[in-house]
Amino acid sequence: MSQVLRPAAQALRWTDLFADRTLRMTSSAIREFLKLTSDPELISFAGGLPAPEVFPLPEIEYALTRVLGEHGAEALQYGATEGYLPLRQLLVRHMDRYGIQVTMDNVLITSGAQQALDLIGKLLLNPGDIVVSEAPTYLGALQAFSAYQPEFLSVPVDEEGLRLDRLEELLSLGPKFLYVLPNFQNPTGVTLSLARRRKLVELSAHYHTPIVEDDPYGQLRYEGEHLPSLVQLDAELHGCASGEAFRGAVLYLGTFSKTLAPGLRLGWVVAPAQVIGKLVQLKQGADLHTSTFTQMLAYEVARGGFLDEHVRLIRSVYGERRDAMLRAMETHFPSTVQWTRPQGGLFLWVTLPPGLDSTALLKDALEQKVAFVPGTPFYPSGGGARTLRLNFSYCTPERIEEGIARLGAVLRRLSATAQGASASATGRRAG
Ligand SMILES: Cc1ncc(COP(=O)(O)O)c(C=O)c1O
Repeated sequence: MSQVLRPAAQALRWTDLFADRTLRMTSSAIREFLKLTSDPELISFAGGLPAPEVFPLPEIEYALTRVLGEHGAEALQYGATEGYLPLRQLLVRHMDRYGIQVTMDNVLITSGAQQALDLIGKLLLNPGDIVVSEAPTYLGALQAFSAYQPEFLSVPVDEEGLRLDRLEELLSLGPKFLYVLPNFQNPTGVTLSLARRRKLVELSAHYHTPIVEDDPYGQLRYEGEHLPSLVQLDAELHGCASGEAFRGAVLYLGTFSKTLAPGLRLGWVVAPAQVIGKLVQLKQGADLHTSTFTQMLAYEVARGGFLDEHVRLIRSVYGERRDAMLRAMETHFPSTVQWTRPQGGLFLWVTLPPGLDSTALLKDALEQKVAFVPGTPFYPSGGGARTLRLNFSYCTPERIEEGIARLGAVLRRLSATAQGASASATGRRAG
């Protein structure tokens, strides 16, 4: 007869069971801050949220009826890991208009660009491999790659984007890849200049270092000319004429999150076919495929040119909000505070004068019911205590004016206190 086993005296300690990589993970500061947006009194410049007013609800509702009415069984069935064929074809045509010439075999649909970052980490990173990124950079990428235990090295960003004078030294260390956001970078809003783009792909080719080009904001340009993507410049450098198989050293990431709706969770990767083949295997292990239903929905909404029309609307709404924020900052911020003037995207980046700290500022700002994200978490190797990110897409121009006025008042008060403290310290030293 089998004995009845008594439970062990101590309760199971889950934390002892977590894998080494899990122990290194921390929760995203941004996600924590997003929880704050539920207070209706709070004016939040914290998240990277699209304006809910621009979600194309009637078009999505119409597409929903069509998808269910005409392709209901297919929409609710398992689908191919690579993605819904008509959507991949649509993306090939769409990217061609932005100078990226690839075929369907180069496109994998993912559950948001975020999943693409995770799959790329899984594909390329062994523990201890070096990843080079911008500093500051997109926090979600640091989170995704961290699971694969790389070492992060970073290069500073200035008003022309990633600084190349500091990059070459890092490339000579043999990093696994370089992670770059050339357009309206999250978090700073700066854009990589054309000269630097060209040089970057040359350096990548010289040092045999692939580039992961993350481009969620490329279409959201409010002024200036579209600049060629790294994937395009790299294909040109490698002599990929139109019609030839796409090859090269850049993995390009796109998303519908900022042009349609982030809740759809639809993104894509562009890569040479052999890389797509491996990513497909990795994605099978993760989720088999991205929701057939939402892919068909996005296709139905986007086909027939609606996406371009909708992007024009988004550009005009967000361009106006960016201008409202810049104007309000000119009016309300002390002259010692500096900020970027992005040509597109969702964010701008603020640098406080010496003596101020953005985490301390946030505490006071929250009391006045205004939120932002302090800069430190965006730096892979620390730093950035005097920086912060402001989002301008989510709030209406009126709320932007009000929120910036509140933040300006807090800044003026803290600046005066910091100046007083430094003057009395100087006085003590002199005396
Ligand atoms: C730079 C960058 N990459 C990737 C993502 C993730 O996008 P998605 O919603 O497609 O997963 C974001 C989201 O804000 C982002 O800013």
